[in-house]
Amino acid sequence: MKARRFPVKQGFPLEPIEKASRKKLAALQLQRLKWSLKHAYEHVPHYRKKFDSAGVKPKDLKSLADLAKFPFTAKADLRQNYPFGMFAVPMDRIVRIHASSGTTGKPTVVGYTQKDIDTWTHVMARSIRAAGARPGDKVHVAYGYGLFTGGLGAHYGAERLGLAVIPVSGGMTERQVQLIQDFKPEIIMVTPSYMLAIADEMEKQGLDPKKASLRIGIFGAEPWTNEMRKQIEARTSLNAIDLYGLSEVIGPGVAQECVETKDGLTIWEDHFYPEIVHPETGEVLPEGEQGELVFTSLTKEAMPVIRYRTRDLTRLLPPTARSMRRMEKITGRSDDMLIIRGVNVFPTQIEELILKRKELAPHYVMEVSKDGPMDHLTVLVELAPGAVDAKSAASLQHAIKAYVGVTADVKVVPLSSIERSIGKAKRVIDKRPK
Ligand code: DLL
Repeated sequence: MKARRFPVKQGFPLEPIEKASRKKLAALQLQRLKWSLKHAYEHVPHYRKKFDSAGVKPKDLKSLADLAKFPFTAKADLRQNYPFGMFAVPMDRIVRIHASSGTTGKPTVVGYTQKDIDTWTHVMARSIRAAGARPGDKVHVAYGYGLFTGGLGAHYGAERLGLAVIPVSGGMTERQVQLIQDFKPEIIMVTPSYMLAIADEMEKQGLDPKKASLRIGIFGAEPWTNEMRKQIEARTSLNAIDLYGLSEVIGPGVAQECVETKDGLTIWEDHFYPEIVHPETGEVLPEGEQGELVFTSLTKEAMPVIRYRTRDLTRLLPPTARSMRRMEKITGRSDDMLIIRGVNVFPTQIEELILKRKELAPHYVMEVSKDGPMDHLTVLVELAPGAVDAKSAASLQHAIKAYVGVTADVKVVPLSSIERSIGKAKRVIDKRPK
């Protein structure tokens, strides 16, 4: 038979665990959870202290539901143990350190053994495959490389799948466009907000984003709405797929939307055990209820996390494309939630309303200031190219009042006047006196 010059584009096969029964998956989770609790208790003094003062021992976990007896871990625990106090292995077993900047105080530091890097690479490869990658695809990675986990996480995963990785990192938007034109990648991995900046730049150069080689966008690292997905898919030829993760748990690759269903993100539950808890009381909520996402690592060696409070708000959904449960698109972080005159407001709610209006561009920020004793919200949003500002400010203001229940000032500003981010978009500017 004549050898083929290029791989046949058939896709990659699933792993057995992605098709396993719930029963088999739960048995694996229980076995791994027992190991993880014991590992944390025996090797991290901070966990030992917390378990002891809560009066629990790893052997008290007999079923998955028993996890609720164990204390939570929060970002503050990691800060208290800055930089390496949460590590469960000696430094001669650590092969990588990452950190997430955080807006205040010290960064959150995370470490990996070689096995952790392998696990991470594995779940990222699984994620990229779930997003629809095919053998022979080229992947343009525009997530930042460095202490941020986005770039290197995407890089290792794509390479493990055998794809051709183009490690561009973030920034230099003109060059991003040039490389996409010249190398013709099929896949781009980038924050959705920076994807918009790249599409804007293409148009600025007289190129039609729809005619670019890109077919799949693997977007994450920040909240983005289904309205944003529609807008990106309408402007480009991309299938826009959601990727979720956080440094404390491993980095990107904790959960991934599957291209065949695009119905929320499948959680790679054989490595990361999810719970949804009430953000204030900490009570575990039943499947389907909205609350704060909490993760326990099942296989991590260097830095196990036990009931880590992500601050991300979502709900758990039953499995569809895989045997593992899904989570709904993240509504927002509880840290990003504004309380304006008693009403809770998330940037994603404002985003949805902005994107429904053709005359507005998807670039916006929310400013909070003090108006006497009251908090005051101003939404700044750009006018779409070629649009004329007739009544858009008043109409958006009205919609915010009607759908979100809050009075906000809306300022429609000229195109390009809102600062573009090259990574995570900053949606809230807090101008209140500290
Ligand atoms: O943002 C890891 C990552 C990189 C995920 C690239 C996806 C793609 P951190 O910098 O530690 O890690 O930030 C984690 O970002 O708790 C969420 O609040 C937010 N986040 C991440 N992915 C999504 C997503 C990386 N798909 C924090 N949707 C998380 C909404 C997301 N929010």
